[in-house]
Amino acid sequence: MKTRPGRLIGQSSSAAFGKDLLTVGAIPRSHIARLLRIAGDLKGKRQRGVPHDYLAGTTLGLLFEKPSTRTRVSFEAGMNQLGGQSLFLSASDIQLCRGESIADTARVLSRYLDGLVVRTYDHAVVEEWARQASIPVINGLTDLCHPCQALSDLLTIREKKGPLKGLKIAYVGDGNNVANSLIEGTAKMGMVISLACPSGYEPDQRLVDLARVEAEATGASITISDDPHVAVKEAHVVYTDVWVSMGREREQSRRLKALAPYQLNERLLKNARPDAIVMHCLPAHRGQEISAGVLDGPQSVVLDQAENRLHMQKAILVEWLSGPRRGGERRQVKSR
Ligand code: CP
Ligand code: NVA
Repeated sequence: MKTRPGRLIGQSSSAAFGKDLLTVGAIPRSHIARLLRIAGDLKGKRQRGVPHDYLAGTTLGLLFEKPSTRTRVSFEAGMNQLGGQSLFLSASDIQLCRGESIADTARVLSRYLDGLVVRTYDHAVVEEWARQASIPVINGLTDLCHPCQALSDLLTIREKKGPLKGLKIAYVGDGNNVANSLIEGTAKMGMVISLACPSGYEPDQRLVDLARVEAEATGASITISDDPHVAVKEAHVVYTDVWVSMGREREQSRRLKALAPYQLNERLLKNARPDAIVMHCLPAHRGQEISAGVLDGPQSVVLDQAENRLHMQKAILVEWLSGPRRGGERRQVKSR
């Protein structure tokens, strides 16, 4: 007979998250701490070979309009490890590409699935999926933000550097989706974030304003300048991301020129703390946003960082796909 998985550390019976996970900013602080605890517990269980099939009988859809290696594979593998199943839905293979509306697709998928990860361009599109679906919608990256990445990164930073409050993270380069979510996450956790971005490539102002309100409550600080050497000073973590995000390919030459002084290389890294860790969400372009020596060097934690996508997203799946939020349509059917 199959044994039931044991209790999950960090999870309480009364989950109080919203239906969807669209931004880090929308997750209450205490729930981020709880996700970190659950992710740590699930990581330990996987390492020790302890069964943790908390999502047996559950199916996750992944609807992607942009390419992905890490997000797709870590969600799919994570669902398998949790005893559930996943279905990859390329936007170009379903009727969406022939004009079927998001509303109709979302309502139909809600009858089959227990959750949906959406990777798309305009953030308003993932919000529309969330409005139309009765099942949880998880943002697998939009042009505005990448919440699963930032939450996983908080786990990596905590593992490498200890309690998050007061730690300084420097982000150098394009103020893009990853930067935006890191700002939200670090503000929630009382961290110091210092960004250096060239003029015209700063993070989203509306999101920064909201994060500053959060920062007042947590003691966090958010600094944005155009000087990478100042930004990395005394940093515990130095982070960068690509200069040409998906969908920005037509701006490539302008971006490479504007961002060239922001390369994370050995010279820049010397300004950080000697034990600073180097992070990059990957995929990376050696010789552009980061030198090969730094990306592959002793301070780089990028592979552990990529691995933690798996553990954090399993925590997200357990939190969002089980319990009261699970399958609105299915609950209705059951209660009849
Ligand atoms: N970091 C990240 O989201 O990678 P993928 O684009 O490969 O999913
Ligand atoms: N900023 C990058 C992140 C890729 C994971 C992009 O949007 O392409």
